[in-house]
Amino acid sequence: QEAHEAIDFMLLDNKLGVQHNAGGARVVIEEFLAGEEASFIIMADGKNVAVMATSQDHKRLLDGDAGPNTGGMGAFSPTPAVTPEVERRVIDTIVSPVLDGMRRQGTPFRGFLYVGLMLTHDGPKVIEFNVRFGDPEAQAVLPRIEDSLALLLDAAAHDRLSSRAVRLTSDPTVALVLAAAGYPEAVHTGDSIQGLNDAGQLDDSDALVFHAGTSRLGNEFRTAGGRVLTVVGRGPRYEGAITAAYDAADRIAFAGKQCRRDIGRSALSLRLLKHYPSVHTLGFPLNATEKFGHETGSKLTVRNELRGHIEYNLNDAQSSKDIASAERFGSSGGLDAAGFGKESCRGPCCWGNEKRRQSRRQRARTPTAPRRQTSLHK
Ligand code: GLY
Repeated sequence: QEAHEAIDFMLLDNKLGVQHNAGGARVVIEEFLAGEEASFIIMADGKNVAVMATSQDHKRLLDGDAGPNTGGMGAFSPTPAVTPEVERRVIDTIVSPVLDGMRRQGTPFRGFLYVGLMLTHDGPKVIEFNVRFGDPEAQAVLPRIEDSLALLLDAAAHDRLSSRAVRLTSDPTVALVLAAAGYPEAVHTGDSIQGLNDAGQLDDSDALVFHAGTSRLGNEFRTAGGRVLTVVGRGPRYEGAITAAYDAADRIAFAGKQCRRDIGRSALSLRLLKHYPSVHTLGFPLNATEKFGHETGSKLTVRNELRGHIEYNLNDAQSSKDIASAERFGSSGGLDAAGFGKESCRGPCCWGNEKRRQSRRQRARTPTAPRRQTSLHK
């Protein structure tokens, strides 16, 4: 049913602007790949590779990865899903063979190569290649680059790139797309945009506003496209970057503004999984990010039913030892170590959450307390 609707959307309704020519009318059926998506962007001079920051896009319109596909509603960089081991595999098994092949064919590739990845059970798989930086990944990655972008571009154009990682700030960034009313299907344009100056006047330049679908009439900005603005927040941790981004985005107003409220949340859960090795096998999170339950070796089950929603299920805790281990996981051993401490976490994932944590702890300590599924991060 979904496949039929997608074909009608693209070919009959021509919603993506695909022309009804021979190429546009062809449908390719591909293997379904399950796992965590990641964007891996490199710069090449035909031979050498400079690895840019990793990032992760949020393609669906609505929170919890619901709603229609879009050009991207937000991104964060880096993504904890791409560990150094995964990065090595991507370079060795994907990037280098592609560049070698193009060079052998007499068409060496110079420029940005965007590798859209699915991190599956069987390792990283390519979903798409783009020969550009990516949107909204570029807005998340550009503020992190410490090297001179102009010198990098010049080196790539003149076969002088050195194969190394581009120098980046360790501070993560979170990019929020503010989309127009009706996006992605029936975009409404011409709406007046308020609050841009206010959003740009946050302390310490922790927020940046990129224009995309805007037009200017004198001092007034109006919406002029589907994805209108991208607001980028940065901070020493993901939580700070999320807060900076939403603080700035919330100062901007236009009629029908659409903005997901959960951008960056999956970075928090992916980072958590890194601290839980039995879930985080083979260098990247497998089952736990595939929206299925995962048996961890004790009775404790870690689940990630929707990306960014980490739960542990005290129904599965059969003994006080299990509850104690759940407590450890939720305090010093896991969540706090991963940055979820009540003092450290100020992200939207955790707002109002401390109350729930306290009542969970209370219940776990009370012998007669019913064992219930308890959500840590909603
Ligand atoms: N964010 C996906 C792309 O730029 O293609």
